[in-house]
Amino acid sequence: MRILVTGGLGFIGSHFIRHILATKPDVQVVNLDKQTYAGNPDNLKDVEDDARYDYAKGDICDAAIVDKLARDADIIVNFAAESHVDRSIGKPGDFIRTDIFGTYTLLEAARRHKVKRFVQISTDEVYGSREKGSFNENDLLRPSSPYSASKAGADMLAHSYFVTYRLPVVITRSSNNYGPFQYPEKLMPLFITNAIEDKELPLYGDGSNVRDWLYVEDNCRAISLAVEKGMPGEIYNIASGQELSNKGVTRLILKLLGKPDSLIKPVKDRPGHDFRYSLDSAKIRKLGFKPKVSFEEGIKTTVNWYKANRWWWKRLKSGEYLEYYRKQYNL
Ligand code: NAD
Ligand code: TYD
Repeated sequence: MRILVTGGLGFIGSHFIRHILATKPDVQVVNLDKQTYAGNPDNLKDVEDDARYDYAKGDICDAAIVDKLARDADIIVNFAAESHVDRSIGKPGDFIRTDIFGTYTLLEAARRHKVKRFVQISTDEVYGSREKGSFNENDLLRPSSPYSASKAGADMLAHSYFVTYRLPVVITRSSNNYGPFQYPEKLMPLFITNAIEDKELPLYGDGSNVRDWLYVEDNCRAISLAVEKGMPGEIYNIASGQELSNKGVTRLILKLLGKPDSLIKPVKDRPGHDFRYSLDSAKIRKLGFKPKVSFEEGIKTTVNWYKANRWWWKRLKSGEYLEYYRKQYNL
């Protein structure tokens, strides 16, 4: 069995590849990744010599390389994307290109080569914000940012390939992931690494926005289940049910690191900032999914990992990155 994973040098994709290699001895994995700023070979250093793992550097928008790799694939799992909301507000074009056109390129190759399963990795953000209650898979999509709108476009395209061409497409939509190897631009790794260095934590608005926090390895277990047991044409929400305000998460990080709340710097709110994401994940739970990692345990593991692995993030938080952050937050 051969799986083509795209975006496997990123945060979730790298955990997924490690999970597959550890749990499925008869599976060969090929990782197609463009190595954007978020794609980092260090994320898979521990498996790069595994005979069941191959890496191909390339763009999911490049039909030639996608066609070549899809020809030998039984399954495609598409993680590759531009994934940061703030960057999408500054430069939407990159998101439309990779998240929509890239997905189209993969779908076309999958159709041509009759792959047995195409798993599209999507996000809770496609539903938009919700003050009370939770979204299920049949709810309307009301994306708020160029990122989430691009992901919604990709979902619809993927679904259309199931309806029109009977390509066995399965879509997963997960809540906010956290854990080791997350690029330090997202809330959790940015705040942990800033706090370690006694730098300010730029909290948007009043910090009351709410997210559901899913430990990345739990998401990988759920995705693996969707690959194996998901019904073609179906969508599966994946969430932990552990909802916290950004203020709550921030204070917990500071407490775990023994740092003062005075490091919190309230900054201008994100334009179009979704107040709350919340998913009903009963459908994936019916397939047998149950998160294993509680938020208390997951955040401790995560904080300790960034404390112990400065080598991983120190290099990332320099050069162009620093310029971006100075501009973004006037820090
Ligand atoms: P990430 O930004 O850490 O990694 C993205 C990876 O895709 C990188 O390795 C990058 O090099 C690669 N990539 C980008 N453009 C590419 C292109 N054109 N061709 C080939 N490779 C390309 O992202 P992540 O947080 O690991 O997210 C992975 C997927 O999960 C995305 O599709 C994202 O929308 C979705 N998702 C993420 C979260 C989250 O909390 N991080 C939550 C729900 C869904
Ligand atoms: P983020 O990690 O960017 O994920 P998403 O926007 O996709 O949910 O942000 C999580 C929450 O944290 C979101 O409400 C925005 C907020 N946030 C800050 O307050 N400050 C920051 O510097 C960042 C990156 C995010």
